[in-house]
Amino acid sequence: MKFIVFNGSPAAARSHTNVIVQAFLSGAKRAGAESENIFLIEKNIGHCKGCFSCWFKTPGKCVLQDDMQRLLEKYNSADVVCFASPVYTWNMTAALKNFVDRLAPLKNPLIINNNDNFDLADSVSKTQQFMVISNCGFPGNNNFDTMKVVFASCNPVLEIYRNCGKLLKSKDEKIKSDVDDYLRAVEQAGYEMATQNRISEETEAGIQKELMSIPEYVRYIGM
Ligand SMILES: Cc1cc2nc3c(=O)[nH]c(=O)nc-3n(C[C@H](O)[C@H](O)[C@H](O)COP(=O)(O)O)c2cc1C
Repeated sequence: MKFIVFNGSPAAARSHTNVIVQAFLSGAKRAGAESENIFLIEKNIGHCKGCFSCWFKTPGKCVLQDDMQRLLEKYNSADVVCFASPVYTWNMTAALKNFVDRLAPLKNPLIINNNDNFDLADSVSKTQQFMVISNCGFPGNNNFDTMKVVFASCNPVLEIYRNCGKLLKSKDEKIKSDVDDYLRAVEQAGYEMATQNRISEETEAGIQKELMSIPEYVRYIGM
């Protein structure tokens, strides 16, 4: 079983998003799964030109020569693809959106109607499953609403949304202890996904648990 994470945070390995990703992957590795953690900001990925060559002229092939060809191979080799990003302006970061746009060669110019949701057919039949990991700087889960709608199109098997994200790297002992409990639940989620392809109710409760009340958090970040 192979998990590949495509992380769109500009802070790459130092990101709060990566704190969650690393906990998740360590659980998956404990279960014997393979994993790869890719920081998109470090890759050379041009913007989709919207020329549609990858559909009509050279099906499956993009005109741009950059890191995307290799990343598409990796994407196709995964059993589970994880889209990871902090919330930027109520959405995924530009780096992840750019990557997602460049997945166009994996589609066919054939419109399919799935319960009145119109999408394009896949050019290579999808064998992988999808999941999402995100954190945001504000309290309140409404910050993830856009990402939830966007990623619903790939029918994710697991979504981990962490509000009050600044706490993930806190040096305060009490906060650190609550964050460690949270990260243990995320680690367990990785283990359960790799072994059962689902997470238990107890693990779900652990990853949903609020880390701090809204007034306390607003005071903590001093805003
Ligand atoms: C340009 C920009 C836009 C942001 N927009 C939001 C937002 O809409 N909602 C939110 O809760 N946090 C927002 N944030 C805060 C980030 O989500 C937060 O700092 C997060 O912890 C960064 O995660 P990272 O370290 O993984 O990059 C924004 C940050 C930046 C720099």
